[in-house]
Amino acid sequence: MSELVAGRPSRLRVEGLRCPHGLTLRSPRFSWWLPAGTTNQVAYRLQVGEWDSGRVESASSVLVEATGLHLQSLQDLSWRVRVWTDLGPSDWSAPERFSTGLLTLTEWVSTWIGPREATPLPPGGHRPAYWLKGEFDLGVAVRRATLLATAHGLYEAFVNGARVGDQELTPGSTAYAHRTQVQSFDVTSMLHAGRNDLSALLSDGWYRSVSPHMKIADGYGARTAFLAQLHIELEDGTGTVFGTGPGWVFTPSSITAVELTRGQHQDQRITSSDWQPALCADLGHGTLVGPVAPPVRQVEELPAVAVRRLPNGAQVVDVGQNVNGWVRLRDAGPAGSRVSLVHGEALDADGDVTIEHLHFAHLDGVAQTDSIVSAGNDEPYEPRHTTKGFRYVSITGHPRDLAPADLTAKVVHSDLERTGDFACSNADLNRLHEISDWSFRGNACDVPTDCPTRERAGWTGDWQLFMPTAAFLYDVAGFNAKWLYDLAAQQLPSGGIPTIVPDRHESLRGEYPFEAEFFATAAGWADAAAHVPWQHWLHYEDHRLLDQLYPTMLRWVELQERIAREERHSSRTGDRQPHEAFLLDTRFQFGEWLEPDETDDTIHSLMRLEADMGVVATGYFFRSAQQVAAAAAVLGHDADARRLAGLAEQVRRAWQIEYLAPDGTIAPGTQANYARALSFDLVPGALRAEVAANLVAIIRKAGTHVGTGFLTTPMLLPVLADNGHVEVAYELLLQRTEPSWMTMLDRGATTVWERWDGLDEQGVPSDSLNHYSKGAVISFLHTHVAGIRLLPGFPAYRRFLVQPQPGGGLTWARARLDTPYGPIESAWRQQDGRLHLSVTVAPGTTAEVRLPDGAQAELPPGTHSLVSDLP
Ligand code: BGC
Repeated sequence: MSELVAGRPSRLRVEGLRCPHGLTLRSPRFSWWLPAGTTNQVAYRLQVGEWDSGRVESASSVLVEATGLHLQSLQDLSWRVRVWTDLGPSDWSAPERFSTGLLTLTEWVSTWIGPREATPLPPGGHRPAYWLKGEFDLGVAVRRATLLATAHGLYEAFVNGARVGDQELTPGSTAYAHRTQVQSFDVTSMLHAGRNDLSALLSDGWYRSVSPHMKIADGYGARTAFLAQLHIELEDGTGTVFGTGPGWVFTPSSITAVELTRGQHQDQRITSSDWQPALCADLGHGTLVGPVAPPVRQVEELPAVAVRRLPNGAQVVDVGQNVNGWVRLRDAGPAGSRVSLVHGEALDADGDVTIEHLHFAHLDGVAQTDSIVSAGNDEPYEPRHTTKGFRYVSITGHPRDLAPADLTAKVVHSDLERTGDFACSNADLNRLHEISDWSFRGNACDVPTDCPTRERAGWTGDWQLFMPTAAFLYDVAGFNAKWLYDLAAQQLPSGGIPTIVPDRHESLRGEYPFEAEFFATAAGWADAAAHVPWQHWLHYEDHRLLDQLYPTMLRWVELQERIAREERHSSRTGDRQPHEAFLLDTRFQFGEWLEPDETDDTIHSLMRLEADMGVVATGYFFRSAQQVAAAAAVLGHDADARRLAGLAEQVRRAWQIEYLAPDGTIAPGTQANYARALSFDLVPGALRAEVAANLVAIIRKAGTHVGTGFLTTPMLLPVLADNGHVEVAYELLLQRTEPSWMTMLDRGATTVWERWDGLDEQGVPSDSLNHYSKGAVISFLHTHVAGIRLLPGFPAYRRFLVQPQPGGGLTWARARLDTPYGPIESAWRQQDGRLHLSVTVAPGTTAEVRLPDGAQAELPPGTHSLVSDLP
């Protein structure tokens, strides 16, 4: 997290990224924080390389367009900014750097190359990684050299045998047919006059890995390939370009089989010598794009905390935390030792690692398993072409008794900047915050995923519900934008949205048209197309992204409109009522998904097409129509805005006619349906109190236990608090018996479970133990306990609400958030029966404070103390 700096702007960002390399935008935007102690900006002056904006009268400091700046390819630029504020002119900021990649695709002159693989290909998971290598001579020393590289597959690049950069799992996971990311590295110091070589270790990566539910490999294509271009400026003033193409050679590597989640198998004794000419492939350069998101890195190392030898000989290592990444094993023993490492989240009754609950059956029994044949050279083992979710590793075949110091977990995910934190007087809530944070980290490896084990897939439903929570914890602007560009690119022609983005099955849509459409209209999942871009706008005030995503958002709502108008649920008989034209009650739906009483049977019956899920789907139809109407208004599409707002009204009316009774009961009367109704504002004002009371009655009937599944868990506590039942919200949050969040803590969870009963009383696991969805409850800690909230109409916290709602026996709480404008904070403690609140307001923003005793205040930038009576 950052601090404001006195006297000059700080926290400089280009396209929201810190010192990005290889941007391929011609007109990137610039952001900064105002100097400490200032209230507002009246003008700024930007210098980017030689370019100077001059003084520009403007209050804007977030994603500022640099009109007139013309970037060129392969520039390495320094930039700085100064501002005029209420305190007068500031000093220049400290300079920051960024660089550009190739801005026109015709500048790509190198050719994709790949290994010549056996035909037919061995099945997924049984294919080696290959070395690819090219050599070149340089007459004189190098002044500057930039390597641009990418792959269909996963590559690590090496210059003269040394690994390039610290990015992992490159080029990352994208919808490759539309967007293949290029990484840019400064390799100046790695080259020398004379003979040099550039090489890459290439494996299947996301590109050819086995997909979760179609259970097929090669979703994006059957051939791996590597593309690189090295731009070199020499000391004598000349320049040269060396890239992949004819003359390159390949050979199988010591990684004899590897798949992204299955694991990596290496025979350290194999030395690569049989080099053959590589295959050149005409794959073109049309899909190449520069970085949008922060790269994946090894962000943390966790030393093992315990090693236990079992009677069966296995040594089980505990790293103390469920993480995403891989391990580093100090050595693999004497030459010829065959060491195997099985990674998992849970232990079985014998204390060994189990992965049975993760349903890896489709991976022919092998998953999250590495193996190594030792060359006896004390080389550490670190499998960087695979990534897994694990806390425990079961190691067999290592002849030595291992100690914790022999093994380290490498935590690998997108290198996101921390922006938010929370703490309070209740240690359990702090721990819940921590394990939810870890669950997000475990599922933030380039793509927001459901779990880092079984599926490792960018399920739209999961991300739409967690994204606002993530946006508090970390700066997810780039991470989210990258995902949204893939979502937009892969939208179906019908307007439907693949349930998983990036969608590895896109190329199969022609062959399986029914399957492609089947999941593409599931409420709460496909609605990510409206909700996530809208949330992005609210959190980051990114006008350009909203504009780019708007056609996608609109097409989704227009599809909902068409389905509602044209289709009718098979159980409906008699004349069609007018409101039915706005009911969305057909097509496949997941529904709320994984409510506590769901069994495998009920899940399977839910998955039948005949289930009437109109109460859920019509609710989402309303929210999406409303959000797209709001986006249209922001973007100045006034006719759309009016039409969609009218549509939303008709959908709300239809929902009320169908599902809401005059006494405020909702059918079916689940906690989820009540919470959604209140949260989405489906209920008329006059009935809100009754509806909320009915929700409380159901919760009480359940012994004050949570009854929601995936979709509405983040909504449940806020709607209770917002409708006069804050104590019920706290009781649910602190409930110790199953189902509850505290049960997870009491059973030792280090990440949030997919199911409420992820580990049963005996410690038997079911399904994934690292799913962030139920962890979205921690947004209640931010928005209601500490009380920091976005206000509609004021993106990026330009004007925000501070409304702490103390309860649950808490004596103090605080949350801090680094917003695009600067840090804001709400910190309260109870003393002498009163609430003492401290609020920090960032420069350029305003806080609206609502105190528990009903008093209100509007606060300018600075730190303020307030006192309130407690009701
Ligand atoms: C995944 C989810 C996903 C769901 C769809 C599960 O298998 O893990 O998180 O959203 O399927 O219902």
